[in-house]
Amino acid sequence: MSQTVLVFLLLTSLAAPLLEAQHAAATAKTRHMLHGMRRQQLHVYFHDRLNVTDVLMAEHAPGPITQTAAPYGSIFCVNDHMTVTADPESALLGHVTGLSTTASFDGVTYFCTFTVAFNTTKPQHGTPAHLSGLEGTINIFGLVNVITPKPHAISGGTGSFLMAQGTATIVPIDVRTFKQVYRLDLDVYLPA
Ligand SMILES: *[C@@H]1O[C@H](CO)[C@@H](O)[C@H](O)[C@H]1NC(C)=O
Ligand SMILES: *[C@@H]1O[C@H](CO)[C@@H](O)[C@H](O)[C@H]1NC(C)=O
Repeated sequence: MSQTVLVFLLLTSLAAPLLEAQHAAATAKTRHMLHGMRRQQLHVYFHDRLNVTDVLMAEHAPGPITQTAAPYGSIFCVNDHMTVTADPESALLGHVTGLSTTASFDGVTYFCTFTVAFNTTKPQHGTPAHLSGLEGTINIFGLVNVITPKPHAISGGTGSFLMAQGTATIVPIDVRTFKQVYRLDLDVYLPA
């Protein structure tokens, strides 16, 4: 074999895995496009009124309950109004409903299982277009730290959010009193 042919073979054998990798990347990208997930980023607010819409149902051991902390093992039932802005009088979008359990000894981490229910089939005055005409739910599930917000998983949805995937982050906006405001950042991926 001539030297030229050897060099050619060597280059080809080196290039093949590279080309394969490139092809795999292109295929993965195409597949992602084919699956056609549509991203929707929604920012809404919910209003947690302690002892009114957020009620202590069970406590492991009696202890002080503050605006943000409760004794380990406390269970709360939640049914909060969800609105367009941090103003509780702003347009109503639906409700955040579920249970939360204090899951850390410092009392500020909660294990939460919430259904975020939107109903804007008849949008109230002041509802932006991207939040209008929605009817469906998003289930969110996981640990919520009231001090340090972290994203947790969306575990499904119904109606406008059927087969939803993605993350949800609960961000405290005003937790100084017993009328608390949280922002809910939803990063939703839906089939096209
Ligand atoms: C909420 O209820 C607890 C007892 O369940 C009570 O100690 C606390 O003062 C109440 N807070 C408000 C703001 O009503
Ligand atoms: C949404 O609201 C409309 C009225 O505004 C009502 O007819 C409909 O049943 C509601 N849907 C859900 C899922 O609650």
